[in-house]
Amino acid sequence: MWKGNLTCKHSSFIIIFFLILCSANSVVKASFEEEEDKVDVKRSDFPDGFLFGAATSSYQIEGAHLEDGKGLSNWDFFCRIKGSIANGDSGDIAEDHYHRYMEDIEILHSLGVNAYRFSISWSRVLPRGKFGGVNQAGILFYNKIIDNLLVRGIEPFVTIHHFDYPQELEDRYGGWLSPRMQEEYVHFAEICFQSYGDRVRYWCTINEPNLFSEFAYERGTYPPSHCSPPFGNCSAGNSDVEPLIAAHNMLLAHAKAVKLYRERFKSKQSGVVGIVVHSFMYKPLTDDKWDKEAADRALAFNMAWILDPLVFGDYPPEMRRYHGSELPKFASEERMLLRDSIDFIGINHYGTLYAKDCIYSSCICNDSSCNKGSDRAIRGFVYTTAERDGVPIGEPTGMPRFFVVPRGMEEIVDYAKKRYLDKPMFVTENGYSSPQNQVDDYHHDVERIYYLESYLAFLARAIRNGADVRGYFIWTLMDDFEWSNGYSIRFGIYHVDPHTLNRTPKLSASWFRNFLSNCSINHVESCNAISLMNKDVPMPQSE
Ligand code: NOJ
Repeated sequence: MWKGNLTCKHSSFIIIFFLILCSANSVVKASFEEEEDKVDVKRSDFPDGFLFGAATSSYQIEGAHLEDGKGLSNWDFFCRIKGSIANGDSGDIAEDHYHRYMEDIEILHSLGVNAYRFSISWSRVLPRGKFGGVNQAGILFYNKIIDNLLVRGIEPFVTIHHFDYPQELEDRYGGWLSPRMQEEYVHFAEICFQSYGDRVRYWCTINEPNLFSEFAYERGTYPPSHCSPPFGNCSAGNSDVEPLIAAHNMLLAHAKAVKLYRERFKSKQSGVVGIVVHSFMYKPLTDDKWDKEAADRALAFNMAWILDPLVFGDYPPEMRRYHGSELPKFASEERMLLRDSIDFIGINHYGTLYAKDCIYSSCICNDSSCNKGSDRAIRGFVYTTAERDGVPIGEPTGMPRFFVVPRGMEEIVDYAKKRYLDKPMFVTENGYSSPQNQVDDYHHDVERIYYLESYLAFLARAIRNGADVRGYFIWTLMDDFEWSNGYSIRFGIYHVDPHTLNRTPKLSASWFRNFLSNCSINHVESCNAISLMNKDVPMPQSE
C-alpha cells in the first residue's frame, strides 16, 4: 500500500515505475526465491552526513586526449594497438566530459548527490611526468570542476590515479614495474595536494592496484599488456611475478604520498587519504574444509594483498605462506612507512564468486566464468567461478564475472570491518552493467534499479550491525569507455548517445533521484511509498 501525501507528479511517476517493475519482477523472483523478505531501503537508513554520489574516471569520460597540452597516456597508446579494445574503440573523445563538464555537474546536482568521485588525468596535469613541466590548462580544468561542485554543495572525492599515466613513463622505464614510478607518483600527488587540497577533503591515492596489476601484468588485457602462459600469450611479461612487483611499487608510492600529505598538507587542509581496492566476495564452492580455506585465501590474495600492508605493514600471512621469493619483501623502514597509511578503505564491490581449492584437488577451467592459472601461487591456488553444478551464483550482467549477489555487499564490508579493525570505509564503486543483448537498457533498466536498491539494503544492514561505512558511489554517472570492452558495456545511470553524445537519464537515474530526495528526514513517509523494489525481492533481516 502506498503511504504518505503524494503529489500528482509523484503518483504518475510511481504508476509508471510500478507497471515496469511488474514486468521485471519475474526475473528478480526467479533467482532469489530462497530469500523471503522485501527490499525497503531508504536514505534515512544511512547515518547523517553519509555521502551519496556517483563515480567516474578521467580516461573513461573526458576525451580531448590531445587538447590543451595534454600528453599521451598509456591508454591513448594502447587503444591504438589493433585488437586491444573491443570494436577498435578508444577514449579519444569518450563522453567529451572535458567540454561538457558543466552539463555533467548540473546532472549531478539535479540527482541530489552530496559527493562526486572523479579522477585526475596524470597526463593532462603532467604530460611527461617529472620529465616535463606542469600543464596549467590541466590544473585549471580540475579547478573548474572542484569549484563548480562546491558551489552546488557537492563534495569532491578525488582519485589521484585511476589506471591512466603518461606513456613517457612506460617508454622510459616500464611504468609500475619500475621503482622509479614511486617518485613519479609522489610528484604527481604533491601537485594535486598543492593545487586542490585547499578544497578537496577526500583523496583516494590509487584505484584498484590489485585489479590493475592483474589485468596489466597477469592477463595482459590492460596496458602494457604483459602476460605469459597459461594466462595468455603476450609478447612480453611473466604473469607469476610481474603483478607482485607492480603492486609492490604502487603500495610504496601510496605510502610515500600519504607521508607527504600528513607532513606537509594535513594540518592546513584537514583531509583524509585512502586507497581503493577491487573487492569480489568469495564463497566456498562446497562445504569441504579445503574450499572454505580457498575462499579465505581468495580474499587474502585479492583484497588483503593491498590492505594488509597499508594497515599492518606487511603482506598477508596467507601470501607469505604460499609464495616463494617472487613475493617482494619490504625493508623494515618501508614497513613502518606502510603501516597505518590509510585513513579509510575504498571498496569497489560488484559481485561474488565461488572458490575451490586447487592444492588438494585438481582444477580445470571449464566454464566461461572461471579463472585461468588456478593451480599457480599468483592465484593463491584457488579456482574461482560463478557456477555451481551449472547454476550461476546470481543473475548474470554484462561483465563476464560480475553476477548479482546483493548479500555479498554485506559480507565484503563485514570482512573488511573485522580484518581491519573497524577502519572507516567508503563503497567507492557499485553498479550494474546491462547484458550486451539488452537493447532497452536506455528506457527500461529495472535490473539496474533492482541491483542498486538491493545492494544498498545489504549495505544498510552492515552499517546497522556496526560497520563504519561513510559513503556510497554508484558506478557510474553515464555510459562510458569500459576499458578493453570499449563502449560495448554500459554501467551508466545516464545514457549517452554515441553520435550526438547527448545525455539522457535512464529509469535508474530517476530512481536514484527519488531515493535521495524523498528519503530526507522530512519526507520519510513519501520515501517509503516511492521505494521502488518493495515487491518480492530480498531484504536483509537484522541479526
Ligand atoms: C572498476 C574500475 O575502477 C572502473 O574503472 C571500471 O569501469 C569498473 N570497475 C567496472 O568494471
